[in-house]
Amino acid sequence: MQITGEASIVESPTSASSSQELQRIIERSTDRQFQVDGDTFDDVERVGSGNMGDVYLAYSRKHKRWVAVKKLQKEAAERDKTRFMREIRGLTELCHPHIVRLLDFGILDGRYYFSMEYIVGSSFAKLCNAPNIDLATRVLLLKQVADALHYAHGQGFLHRDVKPDNIVVEDENHAYLVDFGLAKHLQSDVPVTAYKATVGTPLYMSPEQVRSRDADIGPASDVYGLGAVLYEAMAGRPPHREATMLDTLRSIVVDPVIPPSALVVTIPEDLERICLKALAKDPKARYGSAGALAGDLDLWLRGEPLPRAAKPVPVSSAPPWWRRWWSWLS
Ligand SMILES: Nc1ncnc2c1ncn2[C@@H]1O[C@H](COP(=O)(O)OP(=O)(O)OP(=O)(O)O)[C@@H](O)[C@H]1O
Ligand SMILES: [Mg+2]
Repeated sequence: MQITGEASIVESPTSASSSQELQRIIERSTDRQFQVDGDTFDDVERVGSGNMGDVYLAYSRKHKRWVAVKKLQKEAAERDKTRFMREIRGLTELCHPHIVRLLDFGILDGRYYFSMEYIVGSSFAKLCNAPNIDLATRVLLLKQVADALHYAHGQGFLHRDVKPDNIVVEDENHAYLVDFGLAKHLQSDVPVTAYKATVGTPLYMSPEQVRSRDADIGPASDVYGLGAVLYEAMAGRPPHREATMLDTLRSIVVDPVIPPSALVVTIPEDLERICLKALAKDPKARYGSAGALAGDLDLWLRGEPLPRAAKPVPVSSAPPWWRRWWSWLS
C-alpha cells in the first residue's frame, strides 16, 4: 500500500488473532494498551467520533507524549479511505502554529490511522457558549484560525469543513484547526463533492458548497465557514438554523442573514460588519482571502478602524438565479 507523503507507511505484522484482540481493546473503553508497529500506545480513551472513524487519546511510548490517534472505520468505503489519505497528506504538508501537527501514520490490519499532537483543552463549540470566555478572546481564537486557513490556502489546501467542533483550544488562548478530512488540494485532487457535509451538519456550509458547485468552491468558502463560526461566537447560534436540514440548506442559499446585533444588541458594529462581509452569499463579495479577514479581526482587537470591511454588505435578498436554482432543487 503506497500513499503520497513524507512519513512512512507501516504495515503491521500483527496476526489475525492479535488484531482481533486489538479491535476488542479499542472498541471497549477500559484499561487499554495496544501495539502498532514500532509504537505502543497506553491508556487509550475515545475522545471523539465522526462519520469516518474515531479519535482516541493515547500515550505514545515512541514519542513519549500523549497523542491523539485518529482511526478510520474498519469497513470504510473507498471514498472515505481516499479522504482519510487526503487528511494525512494535508497534515504532512502543513506546518503552522495553529494547525495540529501530525506525528505518525500507517495501516494496521487494513485500518488506517494517524497520530498527532494531543491538544489539552476543549473544542471551540464548548467555548462558544461559555459565559467566562469574553468576546475578545473568542475573536482572538478565530483570528488564529483565519491565519491558519490563510497559510493552508497558500499551500494549496482548502479545509472545507470549518466549524466549532473542528477547532480545538488549548489553555483558552491557543486555537488549533483539526479535521482535514474534507480538505482538498487545489491543484492535484480530482473534484469531489462535499457529500459528508450534507450528511453531517450543514450549519456552517457556504452557499456554493450547498449547491455542490465544485468550480465555485475555493478559499472564500472557508472564509464563509469562519464567518459562520464568528456569527455563532457573537450571537450564540449559527447564521442559518431551521427545523430541518433541508430548510437550513435552503436558508443558507436564499435567506438574508439576520444581523447578529438583532439577536444580541451589545454586539460591536465593526465586528458585525466583518462577520457579514465574510458571510456574503456571493464568494466574490467576501474577503479576498482568509488573511484579509484575519487582518480585520486583528484591527478590531486593537481598536483600530476597518478600511477593508467598508460598508455593511447588503443582505436584503438572494440573487434571482439562486432562487431559481432552489425552486428547481425542491
Ligand atoms: N489533536 C487533537 N487533540 C485533542 N482533541 C482532538 C484532536 N483531534 C481531534 N480532537 C477531538 O476529536 C474530535 C473529532 O476529531 P476530528 O474532527 O478530527 O474527527 P471527525 O470529525 O470524527 O472526523 P471526520 O469528520 O473526518 O469523520 C474533535 O472535534 C476534537 O474534539
Ligand atoms: Mg470533525
